[in-house]
Amino acid sequence: MNKILIINGPNLNLLGKREVEIYGGITLDEISESLINQAHEAQVELELFQSNHEGEIVEKIQKAPGDFKFIVINPAAFTHYSIAIRDAVASIDVPVVEIHLSNIYAREDFRKKSVIAPVCLGQISGFGPLSYKIALETAIEFLRK
Ligand code: DQA
Repeated sequence: MNKILIINGPNLNLLGKREVEIYGGITLDEISESLINQAHEAQVELELFQSNHEGEIVEKIQKAPGDFKFIVINPAAFTHYSIAIRDAVASIDVPVVEIHLSNIYAREDFRKKSVIAPVCLGQISGFGPLSYKIALETAIEFLRK
């Protein structure tokens, strides 16, 4: 089965309430619903996982091979310093795409570096909720090949 895993990191559960001038008014549930529809239309299976805890994200990534063929991750703040998540991504043979709602290169200096992107297939940053849609489309195309 071509199952795709979407991981959302810390504070993304607050989307819609959190820094709306940067992240917009859309909630994570609304983003998730449109991704579920997109997956349904493409006849792929999707699992959505959100955690505010680094270790839970590491464990989810470690357990992914066997169950999932592709991972999309918005590591949120962990992007910029979690060597543990980077090492987990590097340790599996499942392709991973890193995504961000905001353009991390147009923000504070501490956000301009991702420690995770170098071990990913690629990165999508700055398109708001569309970043998720583009990443899922990428995953669907990748699995068709
Ligand atoms: C984010 C960007 C990160 O720098 C930030 O810590 C987030 C969200 C984004 O989607 O734009 O929580 O990953």
